Amino acid sequence: MMFSNSLTQLQWWKTLITPVQFSHEQIPDLSGKVAIVTGANSGLGYATTVSLAAHGAHVFLACRNEERATEAIAKARKEIKETYPNSPEPKLEFLELDLNDMRKTRDAANEFLDRGLPLHILVCNSGIMAIPFALSADGIESQFAVNHMGHFVFTTILLDRLKSSQPSRIVLLSSMAHEATVESGIDFLTLNDPSKSTSFSRYGRSKLANILFAKALARRLSNERVYVNVAHPGYVNTNQIKYTKREFKDRVTQAFSDLVAMAPEKGVLTQLYLATSPEIESRDIRGRYFIPIANEIQPSSYAHDEELQEKLWAFSEDLVREKIGAQGP
Ligand SMILES: NC(=O)c1ccc[n+]([C@@H]2O[C@H](COP(=O)([O-])OP(=O)(O)OC[C@H]3O[C@@H](n4cnc5c(N)ncnc54)[C@H](OP(=O)(O)O)[C@@H]3O)[C@@H](O)[C@H]2O)c1
Repeated sequence: MMFSNSLTQLQWWKTLITPVQFSHEQIPDLSGKVAIVTGANSGLGYATTVSLAAHGAHVFLACRNEERATEAIAKARKEIKETYPNSPEPKLEFLELDLNDMRKTRDAANEFLDRGLPLHILVCNSGIMAIPFALSADGIESQFAVNHMGHFVFTTILLDRLKSSQPSRIVLLSSMAHEATVESGIDFLTLNDPSKSTSFSRYGRSKLANILFAKALARRLSNERVYVNVAHPGYVNTNQIKYTKREFKDRVTQAFSDLVAMAPEKGVLTQLYLATSPEIESRDIRGRYFIPIANEIQPSSYAHDEELQEKLWAFSEDLVREKIGAQGP
């Protein structure tokens, strides 16, 4: 098993030296805007939800577990009241979404569409990282299924609503780990073969798919005021990095993580920049990749490969047709 880049080629160190280009104070008034945040009950999704709602957006927390989402809503209400005492009563709602299952994902998107609301901001934030090999409800390697396929289905079904609500934004969460994918970038023929990947290269593959999808989608939307961009949030202290800590089981690694990992309130700024900054429209920023805090850099050469972007799009469409038939996007 080979990685596409050796560790020395990875650009992670850039996140330590790039400047802070966006702050919570720069988020504009979002009254009248409707947003969906996937994986909104914890970590970066929760921090995104708090900021969007505190600035007036009506936010749907698209989560797989109602109890965790309800707790997050109560916590967010309290936090917004304390941190933004002048903001109006936050509008927060739960939308049940399980990205591990395409049929349920389609149903979640349709449930939102049935509400008849506009959609101005979609943050595809949910993610699972470096977990042991498993198959999704549809028989697809689970990190690829949740991190990419689920968001592909959800976004494409919501696309007409995003277009009719324009100007609108789509933000995908990738990672520097997209540079540590499997040897061919995406091995479509052996996706489900655990002997051809590791738990971490499967994560990298799914995060590469997030950038490839963002770029292919941005190309399709080049004549619309629907702005699609992709963020690496940095190394952020969330539930997700606890998996990494568990995996390494190393006190030095844990201490290093605790020392260098950003708080979610700071790590969330790059995705908030892409979701809310007026600069995205005024500078016509589309299909680009940003690292903390709100700095554009070039992703890996695989991510730039238009042929691979289109191959992933066609592969994803075929999978949707195969698994959920004509009722897919
Ligand atoms: N933290 C970092 O350092 C870092 C670095 C680079 C990229 N990222 C990316 O940032 C994003 C947010 O992660 P995080 O760090 O905030 O981690 P997190 O706290 O673990 O949040 C992940 C969210 O995804 C949800 N999720 C997992 N499986 C799902 C499914 N089948 N359907 C719907 N939602 C599901 C989780 O829900 P449950 O609570 O129900 O599990 C949780 O709300 C991810 O895409 C991740 O890859 C994070």
